[in-house]
Amino acid sequence: MATKHENLVSWLRDAHAMEQQAERMLTAQKERLHNYPKLRTRIEKHIEETLGQRETLERALTRLGSEPSTLKDMSGKLMAFGQAMGGMVMSDEVVKGAMSGYVFETLEIASYTVLIAAAKAVGDTQTQQDCEAILQQEIAMADWLREHLPELSQAFLDRSDTPGLEAKR
Ligand SMILES: [Fe+2]
Repeated sequence: MATKHENLVSWLRDAHAMEQQAERMLTAQKERLHNYPKLRTRIEKHIEETLGQRETLERALTRLGSEPSTLKDMSGKLMAFGQAMGGMVMSDEVVKGAMSGYVFETLEIASYTVLIAAAKAVGDTQTQQDCEAILQQEIAMADWLREHLPELSQAFLDRSDTPGLEAKR
């Protein structure tokens, strides 16, 4: 068994590792993007948000008498995403990257929804409010990606169909 407090701490640590993973994926994606400035700008904005989220989670863990777990602890849990992103050397990587980004944001939305319930159960109002604020950022990023997938796909398709233009990134 585990207390509510213990589960909250454990899930905060998972979220912290998730944000570290997000930071690495977004940075890798951003650095490879050349021909899609709108997506690149939105990713840059979310990298900033992600850094802030990680710090917020670190403060929550400290408040609760814990600390972030090492990345090694999470290697199994998020491996599937690492593999998905590792396979980005594809001819349509910009589209696959945006799709993977959307999937990852959805995981983040689910994680913070769970964390909000756990913080509520423990009566930790500060953590609850922090997670509610983070959740809004994740929803905004997920919505942006979903809403821009058609435009992005169209841009990719046009570039791909034009001799001499690089389309993949
Ligand atoms: Fe995030």
